[in-house]
Amino acid sequence: MSEGRFWAVVPAAGSGTRMGSELPKQYLTLLGKTVLEHTLQGLLASEAFQRLVVVLAAHDPHWQSLALARDPRIVIATGAAERCQSVCNGLVRLGEFAAPHDWVAVHDAARPCLTPDDLHRVLAAAQEHPDGALLAVPLADTLKRADAHGRVDETVSRARLWRALTPQVFRLAPLHDALQAALAGGLQPTDEAQAMELAGYRPRLVEGSAANLKITQPDDLRFAETLLQHRRPS
Ligand code: CTP
Ligand code: MG
Repeated sequence: MSEGRFWAVVPAAGSGTRMGSELPKQYLTLLGKTVLEHTLQGLLASEAFQRLVVVLAAHDPHWQSLALARDPRIVIATGAAERCQSVCNGLVRLGEFAAPHDWVAVHDAARPCLTPDDLHRVLAAAQEHPDGALLAVPLADTLKRADAHGRVDETVSRARLWRALTPQVFRLAPLHDALQAALAGGLQPTDEAQAMELAGYRPRLVEGSAANLKITQPDDLRFAETLLQHRRPS
């Protein structure tokens, strides 16, 4: 296993447009706690991380009311208009106390159903693959490309296609450099792996559970509730 400590960056500065709720989705309630609390408690419970950097929207009025706001293992950074820029801001904050060769796991605040096993496996894979690792799920459905009118243009082979999830785990300095380079080139990578790919790296896909869903639309909150309920010891 290669050396380096683990840190986490949790982008939580989005406004949840597709959710359509008044509160940003990371503050919606799921089994009596906010989505963000579920996500952070899952990461803290693993004890893998030195600290978590939570990236919040500027003037976020909700964070301070959570008990976790006073947890010494959590540090705050301020987000920006795009997820990649929010993550970048989190990495800059992390750079104030982490070493360039340390590992950073970036995990969406909107994914509260990450299992301890998937987290463990992606962290272990990153240590064995110099270009880093990400959780992902092979596509299961038949894929159709649509025309502008919603009619099928063609069927697309799903061979070797995966859906990228988080956590995505990379060394701090290469990830920061890759994101900066993408932003400087006018690109907005939608995940960290894309920034690393653009910089010439070949991150390792680690098959994870599809239950690690990203809360995106109202139905997803109900799915997440069912998933978490079944995991709880009765
Ligand atoms: N995120 C962020 N900063 C942004 C946009 C997103 O920190 N400018 C975070 C979100 O809070 C979320 C994660 O990145 O935890 C994944 O983004 P996404 O699911 O797209 O969330 P939103 O952008 O909030 O939702 P939408 O795209 O529907 O507006
Ligand atoms: Mg978004």
